Amino acid sequence: MTIQTPTGRPPSAGSLSAPPPVLPAGLPDPAQLARLATEFFSALPGGAAAPQVSAGSGAVGGVASALPAAAPILSSLGNPAPAGSPLAGPGGAGTGVPGVSLPQGKVPGANLLPSAPTHVLSLGNRAPALVPHAVAQNGLLDNAATIAPALEPRAGGAALGVPPVQEGASASPYYFMQAAGHGWSRPDQQIALPASAAAVPGSFGLPGEDDLRELLSIHRFAPPVDDPLGLPRGGAPYFVEGTRGEADSRALAAATPAGHPPFDVNAIRRDFPILQERVNGKQLIWFDNAATTHKPQSVIDRLAYFYAHENSNIHRAAHTLAGRATDAYEDARSKVQRFIGASSPDEIVFVRGTTEAINLIAKTWGVNNVGAGDEIVVSHLEHHANIVPWQQLAAQTGAKLRVIPVDDSGQVLLDEYRKLLNDRTKIVSVTQVSNALGTVVPVREIVELAHRAGAKALVDGAQSVSHMRVDVQALDADFFVFSGHKIFGPTGIGVVYGKRAILDEMPPWQGGGNMIADVTFERTVFQPPPNRFEAGTGNIADAVGLGAALDYVERVGIENIARYEHDLLEYATHALAPVPGVRLVGTARDKASVLSFVLKGYETEEVGRALSEEGIAVRSGHHCAQPILRRFGLETTVRPSLAFYNTCDEVDAMVSVIRHLSARRA
Ligand code: ALA
Repeated sequence: MTIQTPTGRPPSAGSLSAPPPVLPAGLPDPAQLARLATEFFSALPGGAAAPQVSAGSGAVGGVASALPAAAPILSSLGNPAPAGSPLAGPGGAGTGVPGVSLPQGKVPGANLLPSAPTHVLSLGNRAPALVPHAVAQNGLLDNAATIAPALEPRAGGAALGVPPVQEGASASPYYFMQAAGHGWSRPDQQIALPASAAAVPGSFGLPGEDDLRELLSIHRFAPPVDDPLGLPRGGAPYFVEGTRGEADSRALAAATPAGHPPFDVNAIRRDFPILQERVNGKQLIWFDNAATTHKPQSVIDRLAYFYAHENSNIHRAAHTLAGRATDAYEDARSKVQRFIGASSPDEIVFVRGTTEAINLIAKTWGVNNVGAGDEIVVSHLEHHANIVPWQQLAAQTGAKLRVIPVDDSGQVLLDEYRKLLNDRTKIVSVTQVSNALGTVVPVREIVELAHRAGAKALVDGAQSVSHMRVDVQALDADFFVFSGHKIFGPTGIGVVYGKRAILDEMPPWQGGGNMIADVTFERTVFQPPPNRFEAGTGNIADAVGLGAALDYVERVGIENIARYEHDLLEYATHALAPVPGVRLVGTARDKASVLSFVLKGYETEEVGRALSEEGIAVRSGHHCAQPILRRFGLETTVRPSLAFYNTCDEVDAMVSVIRHLSARRA
């Protein structure tokens, strides 16, 4: 007998082991819906069936404990922070922030922070094929996706940061749209949504809409139409509403100066599905964040939403999907602008990543402004991406590359830098955080000194932008570049920020479609920035995904992230440094994320492999920064690099492997 779901499709491979009953086409399974509702309600704050589970059992909340099938997520969290750990681990019973305790009556690990606001969309708005396991991350059985009643396809977009509909107005800044008088009116977007513009439980046929709204972060975190970052505005923070008393809210507000909810690493971790992955039989510990970061569910869902509802080329055709795609892409540009404090979206150019960003600048601004005998200054800390393009420019133009030295801690020597500057210096290009050592470089001083010498300044933010607040206007950088994938966004998308006046003067890099205003066989008129630098079809979906990643970081609060990571790095440094045979490389006072080291008696690759056997991912190698490693007499190091979803427990697990290796040989 063929088992039919209400959609007429056979159940997915990973669905329930017991075959679902045969149902008439089009009708949801009432038992299934009732169970889903029970699970939702069991997790309501203060809900009757939200048992507190003892530390070590792994479960942390009502939904999970009610659902044995959710064990892959939660049992693996049974790893409480050791006594004395300043931060709670995934299975710990704290907020994850030293000195900040959970509010009374709060289930440990309950989500005080925005989890991805889109989990509920997985019910009806997610392709079954996207659900990787029998039980989705939110504990819901994946065949829920196949039985949910039809949902208006774009409902819930607001929760994903989809730009609001602009009725009857062309959102395109592009000449051919205006010239042709094409605006897209979007009759198909007249979606009947409640005032919150969010999908509602009723959409799924579930009872108790109001209660469900309280439970589901989609309601609380759906950005108001006029607040695209979804940040709370004025008055009591939104997370105080309903379930928490005034005393708690004061305490939490004091602990979170930016007005964000308290930092709850357990809640954060639930937003990153890959952190539940098992590697070599162990739960993944991801300490390779300097190479790339993982993506929260909201970014994954936003990409899926783009391809499901908006996919089109941009700027080209006056049809509805072109309008949606253009809006989404330009909205992402505005998000980047706000995130780094640029003065206009026109100062934001999308590229593939930091490497392409620096190449673009060297090959446009550089070729126009650097000549024979001129000087380009970089620091000894630079990634190859901030060395090679300048070397190529120097070779092409007859300019000279000069290098700011570092001290033995790995910090740049500002006095030596001052001596390098002169009237031949055309550009100073430095990283804000070293990818190999973690040094936080005083870029504001470096930019100021460059300007005093009459030079331009480029700040490479690839390793900084996910760890600290960046304000390009406060830095006064002429250029700032970063990669989306290092800030929880997709690969293949990155950003050049350039001051408008400088971009205006820069010639295009690549020629082709999108970047022109008019073409004849005799001559081409180019678009103004940023389009002048975006020839061809760009990485539209991933730009949109980057916007979602920045939304996520803003919801957590970059200051919260910086503070948590600072404490975590201190913890890791103090745990690793005393291990016999360990030599830490890069010991500057101001550091972010990175702990580079070598272990006596071992090749760095051996250490990397031993860690990988325990499910711990670190990079071992030269980190595309050979000059700085050679400055310390090394060709390679082992490089754990931390992010805000890492914990002290994970650090302990890594240090225990290193201790074990050390005891054998060091
Ligand atoms: N730049 C990346 C790293 O540091 C690839 O690992």
